[in-house]
Amino acid sequence: MFAVQADSHEVVTVEGLGAADGGLGILQDSFWETHALQCGYCTPGMLIAAQALLESDADPDDEAIVDAIGGNLCRCTGYQGIVAAALDAAQRLQKEKAAGAPQSAT
Ligand code: FES
Repeated sequence: MFAVQADSHEVVTVEGLGAADGGLGILQDSFWETHALQCGYCTPGMLIAAQALLESDADPDDEAIVDAIGGNLCRCTGYQGIVAAALDAAQRLQKEKAAGAPQSAT
């Protein structure tokens, strides 16, 4: 999108997905735990796409995740780790919500 299209909207970059204490956010940690990290070109896009999905769908299935990250092309992987990371993050966020912990979507 063009920058002008974001005028008056909140813009969150991958740097904004970290935890309040400066550590990894839940989604970032799930990428770490499931070895979903790829190169510096595609990983930020995968994280932002997965974040957007989790904000709109707290319990996505594999198909929803694959659809959500579909705009990020990588010729280097099979995407299984990314799907696993998004599923893991969704479960962790649901547990956090059930426990009444503050929601940190990241
Ligand atoms: Fe990033 Fe393939 S690992 S484009």
